[in-house]
Amino acid sequence: MATVTDNLAQLRPDGSLRHLLTLQGLSRAQLEHLLERAQSFVRPVGTPPPMSTLLAGATVANLFTEPSTRTRVSFELAAKRLGAQVVNLEVQLSSRVKGESMLDTVFTLESLYVDAFVVRDAEAGVPGVVAAHVAPHVSVLSAGEAHVSHPTQGLLDALTIAQRKQRFAGLSVAIVGDIRHSRVARSAWHALATLGVTDLRIAAPAVLMPEAREFAGCTRHTALDPALAGADVVMMLRIQKERMGEADLPDAAGYFAAWGLTRERLKLARPDAIVMHPQPMNRGIEIASDVADGPQSVIRDQVRNGVAVRMAVLAEALTSRGGTR
Ligand code: CP
Repeated sequence: MATVTDNLAQLRPDGSLRHLLTLQGLSRAQLEHLLERAQSFVRPVGTPPPMSTLLAGATVANLFTEPSTRTRVSFELAAKRLGAQVVNLEVQLSSRVKGESMLDTVFTLESLYVDAFVVRDAEAGVPGVVAAHVAPHVSVLSAGEAHVSHPTQGLLDALTIAQRKQRFAGLSVAIVGDIRHSRVARSAWHALATLGVTDLRIAAPAVLMPEAREFAGCTRHTALDPALAGADVVMMLRIQKERMGEADLPDAAGYFAAWGLTRERLKLARPDAIVMHPQPMNRGIEIASDVADGPQSVIRDQVRNGVAVRMAVLAEALTSRGGTR
């Protein structure tokens, strides 16, 4: 199924964004444009969020067959703040449980004038299959595809780094934890490598390291301390329990002892290093609570930036459509 995504054009012939399934293959200029547009939707904490009628008359459907808090809610808020209508399909209450396929569900919603599908699925390739079958005026935006990609997370991570560091060139970024199962790590790698980060480090126990053909250009560490040394950005990842068998699950206390980010370990990074985590967090397993809530943490900024990034992506995809509606 992955070949469908690989071969599918995300851009329209005029170069505008139609689908967002992966950051792989998008140019630096395209990523910078999306980040600039997202930044235009950022407001200071405590002030009202931006509201617009840009997408008035459009309808966005959230199709999440895997759990989500941040991505689903922020896509919904993003669409509503741009004036669109939003449908959240409750999969467990839908005819999917009677055996209706994903595509028949999509065709049904398309008949109800849905203009964009936001798709999260545990199976690799599903967003691409949906994108390959929708009508020409309809967009598909991935909200997380198995372990493969999470493009809006990659964008919001890049935006958060840009806000704090004002550059990508010259930064040392350490991505730490369950890299093997992480769509967040893959999209961060695609985004940050394209945007000019040259010192990208991935760090994981050997069993959670991805295959050698992946993460080209990253240095690999099977111990935490060397990966943290002098880092400007430390991105901690959750153990993806849902993608492992019981036998593969690391012991929580042992994992924290070897891989948990503590205040003491964070001192190995630069004094102005920022700490990121896509959430949900396993506090006390991959990150200590006092680091997650500490002065170097930008985890809440990441969440806030998620709405801005999703507003930018929805605006790009739905305001440059041609064709029959
Ligand atoms: N970061 C992220 O994708 O969080 P959710 O699973 O809650 O959407």
